Amino acid sequence: MNSYKTEQEQFWAGGFGNDYIDRNSKELCLSGRIALLSQVLACARPIDSAIEFGANIGNNILALKQLIPKATLSAIEINGKAVEILRKIDGLTVYHQSILDFKPDYPRDLAFSTGVLIHIEPSMLPQVYDMLFQSSKRYICLTEYYNPVPVELSYRGYEQKLFKRDFAGEMLDRFPELELVNYGFCYHRDNNFPLDDATWFLLEKR
Ligand SMILES: C[S@@+](CC[C@H](N)C(=O)[O-])C[C@H]1O[C@@H](n2cnc3c(N)ncnc32)[C@H](O)[C@@H]1O
Repeated sequence: MNSYKTEQEQFWAGGFGNDYIDRNSKELCLSGRIALLSQVLACARPIDSAIEFGANIGNNILALKQLIPKATLSAIEINGKAVEILRKIDGLTVYHQSILDFKPDYPRDLAFSTGVLIHIEPSMLPQVYDMLFQSSKRYICLTEYYNPVPVELSYRGYEQKLFKRDFAGEMLDRFPELELVNYGFCYHRDNNFPLDDATWFLLEKR
């Protein structure tokens, strides 16, 4: 039995995280993810390596493999069932651990998260921002639920499991070397590429 620092990690490592995998498998949305990530990559110089924080079963990784097939890809994931699926993806380096225990080994061109910072215990966010920063040689992309001020919402009937805020703004404040490159919105009613409503921000180390 793992001992995690936060109840949110236990939540994702355990039964809720296992059930989430089934939903995420049915809602792969590969075309939506490709459309989103191609917008992000269109703002960036060539990306040869990327690491995803909280990759689940690798839907974003599969989209990246279509877009930048030669890139070296890595994923951090806390849920064991999701990790079993990630390990089947050809060439992917998988870190089966909590982001909060991750020790950045080498910086990649791109470090990114999608719908993950919203599930981290807010007092731990500065630590996660540091890890994203240390894991990036150049770019950081955050695709998360935005709110100008921090708020907590009920998540599928659970409390203290979903938090919205200006994650990118907080990273820009924390690291003066970071600059905003671009940002945009994904919409669940997009005509051709629907995705969960979220805002993406691409930041660059200058
Ligand atoms: C809402 S899902 C998003 C998954 C994926 N990024 C996507 O876009 O499909 C959140 C993912 O983050 C993982 N996660 C949550 N907290 C984590 C932590 N502390 N360390 C590593 N992974 C975590 C969960 O297990 C889950 O796979």
